[in-house]
Amino acid sequence: MKISGKAYRTLWLGEDGWSIDIIDQTRLPHEFEILKLRSVGDAVRAISAMQVRGAPLIGVTAAYGMALAMHEDQSDASLDAAYGALLSARPTAMNLRWALDEMRTRLAPLEVGERATAAYARAGKIADEDVEICRRIGANGLPLIEEIAARKNGAAVNVLTHCNAGWLATVDWGTATAPIYMAHDKGIPVHVWVDETRPRNQGAALTAFELGQHGVPHTIITDNAGGHLMRRGEVDLCIVGTDRTTAAGDVCNKIGTYLKALAAHDNGVPFYVALPGPTIDWTIDDGDDIPIEERDGDEVSHVSGRTAAGNIESVQITAPGSPVANYAFDVTPARLVTGLITERGICDASKLALAALYPEESA
Ligand code: MRU
Repeated sequence: MKISGKAYRTLWLGEDGWSIDIIDQTRLPHEFEILKLRSVGDAVRAISAMQVRGAPLIGVTAAYGMALAMHEDQSDASLDAAYGALLSARPTAMNLRWALDEMRTRLAPLEVGERATAAYARAGKIADEDVEICRRIGANGLPLIEEIAARKNGAAVNVLTHCNAGWLATVDWGTATAPIYMAHDKGIPVHVWVDETRPRNQGAALTAFELGQHGVPHTIITDNAGGHLMRRGEVDLCIVGTDRTTAAGDVCNKIGTYLKALAAHDNGVPFYVALPGPTIDWTIDDGDDIPIEERDGDEVSHVSGRTAAGNIESVQITAPGSPVANYAFDVTPARLVTGLITERGICDASKLALAALYPEESA
């Protein structure tokens, strides 16, 4: 994807050949800042402070975090410590554990002196695979938009999305946004309703930013506006991402996703979830078994933004001492999901359909 006309991924190998450069997403959309990760500790901090976020990008950053650990110390102890520290950085995204397992399985059997080179090679491959997976999700989801466009005789297809399951949540393309970018690039008129996504406003700050950079028409709405728009027939299709989907198709995603799925169900609006294979947790069927991250209450009691003077500041919106709770994710039961858009095709949100698409995993 392009920022001010220049193509970027969301993270890349530094010019020194071992450090990792990331886009600091806590500064967007106000400042475009590149941050260097030089240690596994830097990678853990970047994930937990959400300088990088979004399930696929968290996974790729963790893979490079293991490489940074191996750059420093290739011992078994270093491998185990890096695995543990990165795994605890955020609890919900399945891609984190998937990427760490991939790395450990690859590195553990190697001679100690061979691990650093192998770690960078595997992390680089995971990043490239993520780009290809997202590209395929886009290609598989595109016909959904094309079909609606054909029915609408040239009027824009209105897609509602929640949080940021875009380019910034992956290495490139995004998951939920990939079909949208492909439709736009093909000249299909598409317009995106962007949920602001309190408390951290990933929709308002990140999704709107990247859609704007790519020239995709969009409108930011409050989180509570989706139901109203769906009742008025102003949403043709919902596409969201997911941090973890169970083997039976229950979908865990950013808090508020469930309410959108309920509104979509009540109004007959198709509700699709775009996801890469590594987001599926084959060990559980029931969404209630997914650990739901609870974050600092300050994210609810405070809002950050740019002042008229140009400074990025945080202001309190609650009375001092008001109790707050900050659940970061919720679960949408499979019965509310019209379909899952994967790199292998679109399927029902069911155990049978997922097993048919990923026979090697379900076995
Ligand atoms: O808390 P975040 O910003 O990491 O949450 C991100 C989401 O909920 C995304 O929808 C999900 O990770 C899918 S990203 C392709």
